[in-house]
Amino acid sequence: MKIPPFLLERYFASHEFNVRHLLCASDCESMSVGELLALEPGAEERFSRQRLGYTESPGSPALRQAIAGLYVGTGSEQVLVHSGAEEAIFLFMHAALQPGDHLVVQSPCYQSLAEVARSIGCAVDPWPMREQEGWAPDLAELRRLLRPQTRAVVVNSPHNPTGFHMPLAMFREVVRLAEERGLLLFSDEVYREAEYREKDRLPAACDLSQSCVSLGVMSKSYGLAGLRIGWLATRNTRLLEAVAALKDYTTICSPAPSEFLAELALRHRQSLLRRNLGLIRDNLQVLDGLFERHPERFSWRRPLAGPVAFPRLKGAEVESFCDRLRESSGVLLLPGSVFGDRDNHFRIGFGRAGLPEAVARLEKALR
Ligand SMILES: Cc1ncc(COP(=O)(O)O)c(C=O)c1O
Repeated sequence: MKIPPFLLERYFASHEFNVRHLLCASDCESMSVGELLALEPGAEERFSRQRLGYTESPGSPALRQAIAGLYVGTGSEQVLVHSGAEEAIFLFMHAALQPGDHLVVQSPCYQSLAEVARSIGCAVDPWPMREQEGWAPDLAELRRLLRPQTRAVVVNSPHNPTGFHMPLAMFREVVRLAEERGLLLFSDEVYREAEYREKDRLPAACDLSQSCVSLGVMSKSYGLAGLRIGWLATRNTRLLEAVAALKDYTTICSPAPSEFLAELALRHRQSLLRRNLGLIRDNLQVLDGLFERHPERFSWRRPLAGPVAFPRLKGAEVESFCDRLRESSGVLLLPGSVFGDRDNHFRIGFGRAGLPEAVARLEKALR
């Protein structure tokens, strides 16, 4: 298999663990194993008795049940657990696509959502999002992009990196289009439940139609990326079986300690979400202040949901700005070029503690 480097992951591989202030993370603040176990009496005792043998390949029944609790019309049998969302993307693409298929992918995007399909020999068209339109993609443009060879449409809401979130009517129309044309809709919902207002939460795509596959993960809204637990949920049984058959060649099954902890975390997810949404709200106010004070340096479009946004730097080249900031102040921002962006945007992340100090350092560096 030939696939180009994953630019965002390579950038993080070079810098993530060498800087003092990570101001571009897309996940929310994490917690220790001890803190997680303390959420439930007896959990520590049970965890210490967890056997470390192989686990069930689709995921433990208890974990799949807990995941199915996030959906209304999709049951635990329709959930397939993976090692992070990344494995799920890779295996979905390999199970669903063939060389020559055509895909439309909401863009800019997390690179694997387009790149894995390209590496299989598919033609990929971006469904563009533009800053001047509040990052909203255009439904008429999506209709125009569909061809007879189109096999799947890929969407992501809340969106990384722009912070855009689809209105319900737009999301329903995308689902309707997929159904009407007999396409698969791959809905990357890894930032689901990180909406600032509960009423903005979209239904999970897997609950809306059999044509849809929902992607979920413990990493983002729940802040538990180190568990490496993600999943696909779909009522398309044939597709799920095809993905499961490929998983035998990648991870086979998930780590038992991670399955235990993910299930525990999902049972207490409201308390994790309360903490992380609190951080997001407070941090957004700090960012509002920063961008209000420096309108000549940045253009700021407040995100609609999730822990990331995509401001634009004015008057300097964003990659060298990020390099200088990292070297002088130990603050890491992510240049938009890793998303293929050519308009001087950068990603900022605000789901973690410590943001006010990182912003203070950034502001000092501006002066
Ligand atoms: C939109 C999107 N999908 C999938 C992933 C992969 O998630 P994970 O690293 O937990 O596998 C990410 C991670 O940044 C993401 O932003």
